[in-house]
Amino acid sequence: MNDTFLKACRGEAVDYTPVWIMRQAGRYMPEYRAVRGDVDFLTLCKTPELAAKVSLQPVDILGVDAAILFSDILIPVEAMGMGLHFSESKGPVFSEPIRSRAQFEKLIVPVPEDELSFVGETIKILRRELKVPLIGFSGAPFTLATYMIEGGGSKNFLYTKKMMYQNGALYKHLMEKITDTVTAYLRAQIRAGAQCVQIFDTWAGVLGPEDFKAYALPYVKTVIAALQGEGVPIIYFVNGCAGLLKEIKTSGAQVIGVDWKIDMAEAVRKVGKDYSVQGNLDPCALFMGQKGLAKKIQSVLKKGAKAKGHIFNLGHGVLPETPVENVKFLVDKVHELSRR
Ligand code: CP3
Repeated sequence: MNDTFLKACRGEAVDYTPVWIMRQAGRYMPEYRAVRGDVDFLTLCKTPELAAKVSLQPVDILGVDAAILFSDILIPVEAMGMGLHFSESKGPVFSEPIRSRAQFEKLIVPVPEDELSFVGETIKILRRELKVPLIGFSGAPFTLATYMIEGGGSKNFLYTKKMMYQNGALYKHLMEKITDTVTAYLRAQIRAGAQCVQIFDTWAGVLGPEDFKAYALPYVKTVIAALQGEGVPIIYFVNGCAGLLKEIKTSGAQVIGVDWKIDMAEAVRKVGKDYSVQGNLDPCALFMGQKGLAKKIQSVLKKGAKAKGHIFNLGHGVLPETPVENVKFLVDKVHELSRR
């Protein structure tokens, strides 16, 4: 078992810097597109044999140091009682966004072992097959709330912020129900075999520090505190973390995910010596020539080496247009350049 990734999460000595890639199972890979050609995305997420198959692809093809469960952050939201579909042009769409107390009342906190049993089954298959650690994941409460309130992606997050500012009681009740859902969902993933979990806060960067502290962070802290006894490292990734790192590092997570809009040296300085960091190459750097790309990788490695522990990753998900050979080059280069 290659446990370099888990060691880096805990800040222990490693022979080289481990690397995995956010959204490493996905459309940039012909092998993924082949599986996806026969089934729609939600069916893929809910069919354990197929979900496990696409989770394993980047491990076998790229040689990354960790696998991530194949699913989506919106899967448990659908199980809360919201009709979800994925549109080719618009991405995820909830047909009836939550805007009223009556709609909120109808939402349930799903029992993961019942309503989401396919996730546990996928994890069990993966643990039998894998020789690298398996990362489970969930969306953070705020990010999930934005999809539930907006009904999909958004530019200004106006409905979410209106609920925050105009109907604070409803916002709080909704966030508490999501927090209970996320906690139970992650606990079930860990008990099924996930050896680390990442909490994705894709949209928390649209909040200023005061609002992040008031409207997003407390709920993440509740989730993390409830999972601390499970004994697995927790990664908290906020997209747009630059202005929020002082607050983010109080979340309770052992590893802080860093996007590329902050210099890694500055991120490490702000995070301090008590936490490992993960990141933070611009996903578009994978469109550079290999010489330029190698230079960028070296720079992130050098800056990340000053942290308690460093897990190399992109600053956000790999783009569908990315040439696979450059992703493979990245993984090999990280291993080669960081070998102690
Ligand atoms: O390899 C992995 O990282 C595991 C799988 C994974 C997916 N989504 C698969 C996916 C993970 C960890 C996610 C997380 C996710 N999903 C996030 C947080 C991470 C981030 O990128 O910020 C968010 C915001 C979502 C919601 C979501 N899912 C959107 C906005 C979209 C549409 C945009 C897009 O990329 O198409 C998805 C679809 C999705 N999730 C795909 C995959 C592989 C593409 C679906 C397809 O095959 O058509």
